[in-house]
Amino acid sequence: MTDAAPTVPTEGVLGSCFYCRTDVQAGHEGRAPFYSPIARKILVAHRECEAKAKQRDADAREAAFRESVDAQIGEIVKHVPPSLRVSFDSREFKARVKHPQLRAVAARYAPNCPVLTLLGPTGSGKSSTAAAIVDRLVREAADKSMAERSLDPFWFARRIRWAKTYSLVRARREHPLGEGEAPLVKGAIDASLLILDDLGNEPADPVIFEVLDARYDCSAPTLVTSGLRQPEIRSRYGDAAWRRMSQLGAVVEAWA
Ligand SMILES: Nc1ncnc2c1ncn2[C@@H]1O[C@H](COP(=O)(O)OP(=O)(O)OP(=O)(O)O)[C@@H](O)[C@H]1O
Ligand SMILES: [Mg+2]
Ligand SMILES: [Zn+2]
Repeated sequence: MTDAAPTVPTEGVLGSCFYCRTDVQAGHEGRAPFYSPIARKILVAHRECEAKAKQRDADAREAAFRESVDAQIGEIVKHVPPSLRVSFDSREFKARVKHPQLRAVAARYAPNCPVLTLLGPTGSGKSSTAAAIVDRLVREAADKSMAERSLDPFWFARRIRWAKTYSLVRARREHPLGEGEAPLVKGAIDASLLILDDLGNEPADPVIFEVLDARYDCSAPTLVTSGLRQPEIRSRYGDAAWRRMSQLGAVVEAWA
């Protein structure tokens, strides 16, 4: 007797599925030629099911990770005053910030110089530029994070802090003596990148120099915005403070 009609291998089930009442089993791909046409169809159909299930799992993992990335972004961005949040490549940003040098800073600043000082008149867009920089750094971290499937790339952005100078002075003054440093001041000193916003708008207090100096000592980058002119900063905060800001950092002026 020559080859009988191909029979379905007997080990295990080989039936059902057809989207997807499962069972199937029996043999492996290498034995597929011995399967009956119907068994082969079941195998092929169920392979599709398995591919779809795999894709669904991958999509679910992707979505779950995306959620944790979005949560990180939210945690970081909440340090930026809500009314200032803006993306450097948005129309909103271009509407708020006209000065070409501020725009360039927003697009290109990397936190690798000790102090970057943005000077210019009120409304010129200094704070919006700082907000756009935070947004960009956070988004860069998010992209890297998605690519690497790890939250590690957020290590720097996670410790970005925003402090209005008058909030620092108030925090220092309201903090009880003998209880260490005010949390806001401590956060400003320990930040990976500190936005020191609105220099000159606070009552005179040594806390501003202390923060600048502490950060300077450990080469932690600070981004200062101020509506003061250079000579005013010098006379108000002293030569030592101005030296940290100018000679050892960079100053961008956005006067009309
Ligand atoms: N949430 C907002 N919605 C719309 N326009 C805004 C918003 N925030 C700021 N602006 C506008 O964007 C421009 C830049 O504002 P921004 O606060 O960045 O300037 P600034 O240089 O920091 O000013 P200041 O020295 O007064 O702090 C201003 O014309 C301001 O009115
Ligand atoms: Mg401002
Ligand atoms: Zn199936």
